[in-house]
Amino acid sequence: MNFPRLYGKKLKLFIPVLFTISCILFSLHSYIPESIRQIILEDTALKHHRDSSFDPRRSTSALYSYVQDVISKRPHNSAIGTEEGIYFHWDDWVDLSPGNKLLNRYRQDFPSGKCDSIISKFASTNAFWAEFFDKKVLRGMANLYCLKEIPRRIFITTDDNMVEVPVFGKRRFGEVTVQTKRDLMDSMRIIQENSTDTNFKSILIKNYSAKLDIDPQEFIFNADEEIFKLQEKLADDRITETELEYLEFLEYSSQLVEKSDRYFKYPWIITDVVSGHSHHLAYPFFKRFIGERERQSVIHHMVRAWFQFAEMNGFASWLNSGSLIGWAYNGVNMPFDTDVDVHMPITQVDRMGRLFNNSIIVENPRFGNAKYYLEIAPTYTKQGNGENFIDGRFIDINSGLYIDISALQHTDDKAPTGLVPNQNEPGTMMVHCKNWNWHSLDELMPLRQTYFEGGSVYIPRNVSQILWRKYGPDSFTQTHYHDHIFDREMGLWVPNRYCSKKTTDRSMDETRGGLEEECDKDYLHDEYEIVHKCSARHKALNEDIDRPIPYSIEEEGELPILRKDPWDYYYDINYNDGKYGKWFVNHEVIGKHSKKKSKNKYIGGGKHIHTI
Ligand SMILES: *[C@@H]1O[C@H](CO)[C@@H](O)[C@H](O)[C@H]1NC(C)=O
Ligand SMILES: *[C@@H]1O[C@H](CO)[C@@H](O)[C@H](O)[C@H]1NC(C)=O
Ligand SMILES: *[C@@H]1O[C@H](CO)[C@@H](O)[C@H](O)[C@H]1NC(C)=O
Ligand SMILES: *[C@@H]1O[C@H](CO)[C@@H](O)[C@H](O)[C@H]1NC(C)=O
Repeated sequence: MNFPRLYGKKLKLFIPVLFTISCILFSLHSYIPESIRQIILEDTALKHHRDSSFDPRRSTSALYSYVQDVISKRPHNSAIGTEEGIYFHWDDWVDLSPGNKLLNRYRQDFPSGKCDSIISKFASTNAFWAEFFDKKVLRGMANLYCLKEIPRRIFITTDDNMVEVPVFGKRRFGEVTVQTKRDLMDSMRIIQENSTDTNFKSILIKNYSAKLDIDPQEFIFNADEEIFKLQEKLADDRITETELEYLEFLEYSSQLVEKSDRYFKYPWIITDVVSGHSHHLAYPFFKRFIGERERQSVIHHMVRAWFQFAEMNGFASWLNSGSLIGWAYNGVNMPFDTDVDVHMPITQVDRMGRLFNNSIIVENPRFGNAKYYLEIAPTYTKQGNGENFIDGRFIDINSGLYIDISALQHTDDKAPTGLVPNQNEPGTMMVHCKNWNWHSLDELMPLRQTYFEGGSVYIPRNVSQILWRKYGPDSFTQTHYHDHIFDREMGLWVPNRYCSKKTTDRSMDETRGGLEEECDKDYLHDEYEIVHKCSARHKALNEDIDRPIPYSIEEEGELPILRKDPWDYYYDINYNDGKYGKWFVNHEVIGKHSKKKSKNKYIGGGKHIHTI
């Protein structure tokens, strides 16, 4: 090799070494076939589950028993909470076992969960500092244990309402009796029925609207004007305490957006720099890579929890990007899509930040064990230095998977020409997110209720116009995508890795028998059972994706939860003789959203359904 003279001798040596290392790292990750990678991921998850003594029902049990004590006016176990609220420590709520070798000593020395400066310093390293996997995970666990802000409130979700429990301080629970799922459901009902006997706020689960219009004013937000108004109030001495807090936040935020790096971080892992699998997992929650089917399960549960939370609290959000493409095909997220994206009007993100930033939402135990952390970035107020275009996240705290929330806003910035047909007409209002994705309000509003992952969500009015513009005319019709083939008859994306023949060779549109011979039967059965209710309903209602056939939301009802909770899935394999190695479950939605009459209009319709 010839290097220009300019390079020193040391560099001459260094460059080939660097080159070799890069090649090794690159090959490590790009040459493992996806089929094997998925098996390794599931194996790692099973092993992790076996090795860890963490049980997600433990924190739910502690929370429930605290609320039940309050309801029956029993004195509280002071390790769990006081009159004013519950204690919280991330160690009780997230499986931090990958950090045990570091944390155990601290747990022993300070049972309440305190840290010293040594571990706090270790935990404070920036997530974007590239290092090896184990070290990064250890730092994440230590970060949660010592540094991560504790939530301000926890929401309990029951069949009919949500009960808000304030968090009082940081402290580990200590001993708690773990309740079984059945006990948890009994406790949940007691809380649901008696929450009015407490001082806790409770809100009822609401029905979704068929159409939702949003005042254009909600897309206009000017932080500097807000600051100015509040400063005037301050000068006149008529500012309230909440307003003062808001003013201080806005001033802090205005400074921050100009110089801040990314607020929401993913872990930089040296062996992952090429494949980038960690880019879709939030730091510090990241502890392992998540397989495709586990991710589909997390998303299935998370989408319901998010839209329900937003609806109940009067926030409008709607699907966009990849999630919207997934919806257009068969009413579920595409299996290879790694996250969910939603849009909201900027003033609603602002309100959500003030009222609900830093909250935990506990899933209804009927469906699963998930807990979600809602975090609004302090950078939502302005465009700033362009580093931050995600304005909020709804994070599954045990996997680090999330829903990305972006605010749409109307500003003085001019939209590129020729985006939408009526762009230049007076009255057309253009809005954009901080990553410069533009929309006309006309193509968005009124939002429309529809079903995604079997639960109610909102989508924009004109989906096809948006998808055409952003992803091209065949973005929701092409059948080959990311090593998956969309089988129209089954309404299912089938990954090539489960099939002996690849892409074009596969007997598309032939009999199901053909597909079964060529593809893994167990996988097909399981996945089909999960998806077909969603895809059949989608097909029946949305043959034309912009003009659904009329239907009654009350009569349709929410579909059951159809994917097993991941922790339960691994538990069943590890401790129930492995005989339940299926993701399919059928947990009916009870309460306000259960359907009026049980009609199975679209289910079991076509002949093909019975052949597999
Ligand atoms: C809570 O509600 C249930 C059902 O309404 C009732 O039977 C029970 O007595 C109540 N429990 C307490 C502790 O008040
Ligand atoms: C939300 O809470 C987090 C954690 O406490 C904090 O860092 C962030 O600045 C808050 N965001 C807003 C909008 O207040
Ligand atoms: C959506 O936009 C397309 C292209 O602009 C237009 O042809 C179609 O009629 C629109 N659909 C609805 C429901 O407005
Ligand atoms: C919500 O829907 C249920 C049936 O699904 C119905 O019984 C109930 O009256 C509705 N509530 C409101 C407030 O419309």
